Amino acid sequence: MRFNETDRLFVLTGAGISAESGLATFRASDGLWMNHRVEDVATPEAWHRDPALVWRFYSQRRRDAAAAQPNAAHLALAELEKQMPNRFYLCTQNVDDLHERAGSQHLHHMHGQLFESRCVRCDAPFADTSLYEDASALPTCKHCGAAIRPHIVWFGEIPLDMDAIYAELDAATHLVVIGTSGNVYPAAGFVSIARRAGIRTIYIGPEPPSNAASFDEILLGTATAVVPTLL
Ligand code: APR
Repeated sequence: MRFNETDRLFVLTGAGISAESGLATFRASDGLWMNHRVEDVATPEAWHRDPALVWRFYSQRRRDAAAAQPNAAHLALAELEKQMPNRFYLCTQNVDDLHERAGSQHLHHMHGQLFESRCVRCDAPFADTSLYEDASALPTCKHCGAAIRPHIVWFGEIPLDMDAIYAELDAATHLVVIGTSGNVYPAAGFVSIARRAGIRTIYIGPEPPSNAASFDEILLGTATAVVPTLL
């Protein structure tokens, strides 16, 4: 596929783009949700019930993400952003930082970020990564003393930056979705919104997602095999 100089690209990524960097996806048989009950680690109720368990879960995910390296798909998207200045937009459901480490400059993490935390009471953000050194210690806010929680959008919470994300989708000519199973809304609904607006919709992944019928085109293959061909 080739883009011309008036095209505007909206790219949505999911866990599949980081799979070849060694990070587990969610819904595979060996995936994160098969090994954990979502209700135990990724809901506000889980946090209220057992914050230490939730903190340990995200500490492990931070260690995994820190040990991973961006792959050819992350790098290709960073390069595409350079080739299409102001006409390329990236939205990720991933909470790892592999897009940033590949060089992507402008992106929204609609489900939050592993390496950010915030106070549950005064909402102060904590960017200090020394917070993550001792996985067994639950940190507290230095302003108000309340608990610090991961800056992650849990099930039942509202995704971040949605106004800006929908404005970018509105302005696009092409929606390219990479490595997401199409089960979690609102991201799973972007393709229907795009179709109604006349935006060309393309999916990239090794198997069709559950919303495959809504795409104009499905490019079957792994992210590292297919995404670099967009360049
Ligand atoms: N390249 C591209 N896609 C891949 C690869 C690969 N190498 N390997 C697996 N995939 C695809 C799978 O085929 C699947 O469709 O990645 C997708 C992963 O799907 P999920 O595990 O459901 O992950 P995702 O869709 O990103 O989950 C969405 O759900 O659990 C919540 O908040 C969490 O952001 C997450 C959201």
